[in-house]
Parts: sequence; structure tokens; C-alpha cells
Amino acid sequence: MTQPRKILVTSALPYANGPIHIGHLVEYVQTDIWARFQKMRGHQCYYVCADDAHGTPIMLRARQEGITPEALIARVAQEHKADFAEFRVGFDNYHSTHSEENRDCATLIYRRNRDGGHIATRSITQAYDPVEQMFLPDRFIKGECPKCGAADQYGDNCEACGASYSPSELKNPRSAVSGAAPEDRESEHHFFKLADFEEMLKGWTRGGHLQREVANKLDEWFTAGLQEWDISRDAPYFGFEIPDHPGKYFYVWLDAPIGYMASFRNLCDRTPGLDFASFWSKDSTAELYNFIGKDIVYFHCLFWPAMLHGAGFRKPTAVFVHGFLTVDGQKMSKSRGTFIKARTYLNHLDPEFLRYYFAAKLGAGVDDIDLNLGDFAQRVNADLVGKVVNIASRCAGFISKRFEGRLSAELAEPELFDSFVHAGKEIAAGFEGREYSRAVREIMALADRANQYIDEKAPWVVAKQAGREQELQDICSMGLNLFRVLIGYLKPILPRTAERSEAFLRIPALAWDALSTPLLGELIDPFTPLLTRVDPKAIEAMLADSKEDLTAQEAKKTRPHETKTEGHLVREPLAETIEYADFARVDLRVARIVAASEVAGSDKLLALTLDLGGEQRAVLAGIRSAYRPEALVGRLTVMVANLAPRKMRFGNSDGMVLAAGPGGQDIFLLAPDTGAEPGMRVR
Ligand code: MSP
Ligand code: ZN
Repeated sequence: MTQPRKILVTSALPYANGPIHIGHLVEYVQTDIWARFQKMRGHQCYYVCADDAHGTPIMLRARQEGITPEALIARVAQEHKADFAEFRVGFDNYHSTHSEENRDCATLIYRRNRDGGHIATRSITQAYDPVEQMFLPDRFIKGECPKCGAADQYGDNCEACGASYSPSELKNPRSAVSGAAPEDRESEHHFFKLADFEEMLKGWTRGGHLQREVANKLDEWFTAGLQEWDISRDAPYFGFEIPDHPGKYFYVWLDAPIGYMASFRNLCDRTPGLDFASFWSKDSTAELYNFIGKDIVYFHCLFWPAMLHGAGFRKPTAVFVHGFLTVDGQKMSKSRGTFIKARTYLNHLDPEFLRYYFAAKLGAGVDDIDLNLGDFAQRVNADLVGKVVNIASRCAGFISKRFEGRLSAELAEPELFDSFVHAGKEIAAGFEGREYSRAVREIMALADRANQYIDEKAPWVVAKQAGREQELQDICSMGLNLFRVLIGYLKPILPRTAERSEAFLRIPALAWDALSTPLLGELIDPFTPLLTRVDPKAIEAMLADSKEDLTAQEAKKTRPHETKTEGHLVREPLAETIEYADFARVDLRVARIVAASEVAGSDKLLALTLDLGGEQRAVLAGIRSAYRPEALVGRLTVMVANLAPRKMRFGNSDGMVLAAGPGGQDIFLLAPDTGAEPGMRVR
């Protein structure tokens, strides 16, 4: 074997304010397969990651839950780690950007860039929330779209008409935190002078460190001109204070990529003989790879190499960019149930299935990859269960029953075995070049040949004929040897199935080089199924659960009592002012609920019969999560009586009842005081 390479691999650091979902997993599975492959090849490879723990959203999220940011990130770290462990994402270290190592590394990189003259300081004007006494990131300003007037749009673009604009252009802007109208305020900020690195970055871009599509994108950015990058934020902020500027914090994206370094530093501190400098110094001969999604290219291909360069560290050998996951051809969607959390998936399906499916779809480019749920079940069942595992199950029984578990001492078909070994070269090239779909295609072609061999030799026929014992043992041993090579090739993708297979074959952990030596004359264990088929019902159940997660999550987001005690009610911005005449057009009436029942097929709706004092109305209300129908009968409420009847999926609704609350169990039907009579007008 050639010299072992020294390789450090990273995946982007997931934000510490939300769960891991199957979109994230494209990246962690892609990286993990690559790292496992390198390790199997005998290279010295480390795979590190961390939670990205800083920033305004995390600070606000913690407040909303009434806990400290530290408590929030500690809890989420546990959840993330558990999810990754079950998906067999084999990090050598999983750290946090909120760590002493990261504070040290970030401070060092900042200081060196500052001393090199790459930091500028000037005052800027920004939106400020006078109630919360904080500057507002664009995402936290809402208002009416300057183009189409749609209400409740975020500070950067309109979901209704697609226009993009700056938050200062919003009409009637409101802080999404307090609901207050933001003011303009000045404050001093620190900027990283990206343009200082333009020549270096241009050279690096064309130096074979990036995929072609990514390099082209960078060219567009060079043409547009490199802007100074605002790396500071004002208190209150959850992050690291800038050493020479009290009250100013590093913007989360400054210390996030430095988290790769910090995680590795933490690993070095715990691992005798592992030397940080030999991986990160300017003259390092180690390889450094950052796997990322296409949405964060700017940070990783411009800011990150520039910061490293400015601080005298080495730059990545390559940044590997992947596309986004779609489900059944569409963006993951909460309402369709395709926004699937890692945990929800794990509650229903084997993680190896998803690893295999992603591998079968992943190439080296930045194209999006689609999880087609029908195709997923079909493909996993056909390939893994029908082809690969089938080889072992067809051969192992005879070895156990007829030969006391012992394999033949010689290979029946050495050329066939050799052809399997030779194919390893192409397969390895597929893994190395992140052309996993190609590697999978080659492996499945081999699996077809192994099955064909068994079909031709028909061991079940041979088994019934006297005097063909040796032949039977040889055929089955041959089949199992082909299986062993296949499992070796699949091991980076299917670590758990490979482990189970190693146990079944009673062999040590398979290394790539060991695959060329057949397993002869050895004892193996009786066969137990290594994988079971995907049950389409499990997929259905997973989608149903994902929809439920959504309802629970929405309810949790703004539980009024929790948020109120903290004094930080995240309130919807108020709607545009209307005239009395507008209001007077709405005919609100007191109504008595005379009957209430569940609506078959809907988990949200209740069917209500409302008495308006002489007239009865059938109304569908989305309040089932909060009320049992029996509890409503006899109660008074308020309804919109002149709303045009609406045809809904589950029937007609003639009017609407009024309720408040974020959803889930927290929906509060309006109830007039006693004394009110059905039919009275509400003004
Ligand atoms: N915290 C930043 C990364 C900092 S790296 C120094 C971040 N976090 S993230 O949680 O939003 O995303 C983590 C990674 O998952 C990113 O590389 C992102 O591109 C990837 N993905 C998130 N959603 C994805 C899909 N739906 N599909 C594929 N990858 C996706 O960005
Ligand atoms: Zn608009």
C-alpha cells in the first residue's frame, strides 16, 4: 500500500436551535461515507463536527423557552448527538462553537487579521427594537411588502410576490420580537476587508480546490465585487465578546467555521500523539476537506479561506458542495409531512435504508437530490434485501446444516472471485470522487453476477443428490465469499449491516485490502436476517407523525403562559389600521353551540351546530386539538354570521366561530359573559 494520507474531514455545523432533519442527513451521510471509506483504506482520517451554538435566533429561542442559551444548547447537543449516533454518523469528535477552544481560535484569527490591517471599523445605522433594546437582524423585522402590499412579510423578501428588498423598504415595519416599530440607530461595527484577499482567492478558486459549478459562481461574485463583511454584533447577543471591544460580539458566522478547528483542537488535546499544528499550519501536508450544502458557499469559499490566510493558517484542500434534498420532487414541506426529523425517521425505519438510498443518488455535483418515497422502498427492498442479503441467505443454511458451519478449503471459481476483487478499483474511485451512485451501480452489478452464479449452480438441486456434498459446500462457500467482498464494498455506506455480517462470518472488521484474500476453511455462524424489507406502511406512519410534529411544534412555539412569564411574548405584528366602517361590515353574533361532533377523516375539525336565536348554522371549526365535542354543547360563543358560506374538503361551513391562540391545545374559543343571548349582535 502507498503512504497513508493524513486527512481531516468536516461537515457543516448544524444550528443548535433545531432538530436534525433528513435534509441535513444528506450532508452527514455523504461525509460519513467518505470518511469511513478513507479509514477502511488505511488512511489516518479524522472526521469532526460541532453544534453551531451562537447567534440571535438561539438567544431568542432560549428566552422563549424561559431557559438560558447554555441550557438550550446543552439539550440540543444531546439530541443531535443521539440522532447522529443512530444514523451511524461516525464523528471522531463532536464539539460546540460555544467552547473555550473556539473562543481561543476565533480570538487568535481575529487578532492576526486585525494586526495585518484587515479589519475596518465604522458606524452604521440599523433597525433597533426600543422595547427589547436590541438591534434587529433582517429576519426579525416584519411588515408589508413594498411591492405588493402583502402583510406580515420578512425583512428581506416577500413570500407572496417574491420581491426582494431591504428591511428599510418595508411598509409599517414591526419587530418580530416585541411587535414595536423599529427605530434607526447608529452603532460602531467591525468589518473584515475581504477585498484584501481578492488575488489570493482568485488563484485559490482556480487551483483545483472547488467543483467547476462552484468556481463559476465565485467568478460571478468576483465580478460583482467583494464587499467588506460585518463581523460584529451589539449586545445582547449570544456569542464571544470581541477582546478589545467590550459590548461587541463576533457575528456567529465568524466563529462558526473556526468551530472546525476548535473541534479538532479538542480532539488533539484528548488524543496522545495527535498534533494540531501538523494539520493546520501553513506548511501542513495534511489534507483538509469541508463538506457543505450549496446555501453556504459564500461563507466557506470566500470568508473562510480568506480569514485562514490572513491569520497564517492553511486553507482547505477542497470544499465539497452538495445540493439540497427534495422529497417527491418538492421542497421539504411541513404541511405535506415531508419535513421529516431524523428522530421521526428513526421511530419508523432503519437508518441504513436512508444511507443506502442517499448513496445510490449522490454524485459529485451540486444538483439537488430527490427522495422519492415509492422509489425508496422499492430500491432498498430490491437491492439490499433482494440482491445482497439474498446471496448470504441462499448459501448459509447449507453450510450450517450440512457442514457444521465450515467453509470449503478452496475457492470453486477463483476467476470469478478475482473479477470481484478487480472491480474494487473502480468502486474505490467512485467513493474517492464522491460518485457514490457510480460505486453503488458497480456493486449492484456484482451482486447480480453473484446471484446469477448461484442460480446456475442451483445448490438446492445439488443438495438433494447423493455424492455431491463437496460440490454443495464449494458452491455455497463461493457464494459467501462473493457476499463478503460485496459487504466490504458496501461497508462505508452500511456500517451496521457490515458489522452484523462480520459477526456472522466471524471475521475481524473488514479493511479494503483484506477483501482480496478469500475466507477459506473457516467456521461461520448460522445465518440470521441482516436486514428486513421496508414496509410501505412504516413510510405512511412516518409521514403522519411528521405532520403531527408540526402541530405540536407550532403550539409550543408560542405557548402564551410560558412566554408571558418571561415577559417576552413573541406576538404577531398588528395588522393595518382599518376604519370603523370596515369593522361594521362584519356581523358578529352570539351563538349557542347546540351540537358538536368530530369530522370523520379530519384530525383538526369539529362540526358545530350553532343556534343564532331562531336560525341554525352548520359551521366547521379547526379546534379539535383543544376541545372535546361533548364539552362544547350548551356553551355560548361568538361567530361571524355574514361570512359567505365556504365549501371545504369535509363539507360546507356557513359562518365562522372566533378563537385565539397559537394552536394545539392552546386554542381558546371566545365566550361571552352569562346574560348574553343567542342572536345578539356583538359590537
Ligand atoms: N450553522 C450553519 C453552518 C455553519 S458551518 C461553519 C448552517 N446550519 S444548518 O443547520 O442550517 O445546515 C447545516 C448543513 O446542512 C448545511 O451544509 C446545509 O446546507 C445542510 N442542509 C440543511 N438543509 C438541507 C437540505 N434540505 N438538503 C441538503 N442539505 C441541507 O447552515
Ligand atoms: Zn410582495
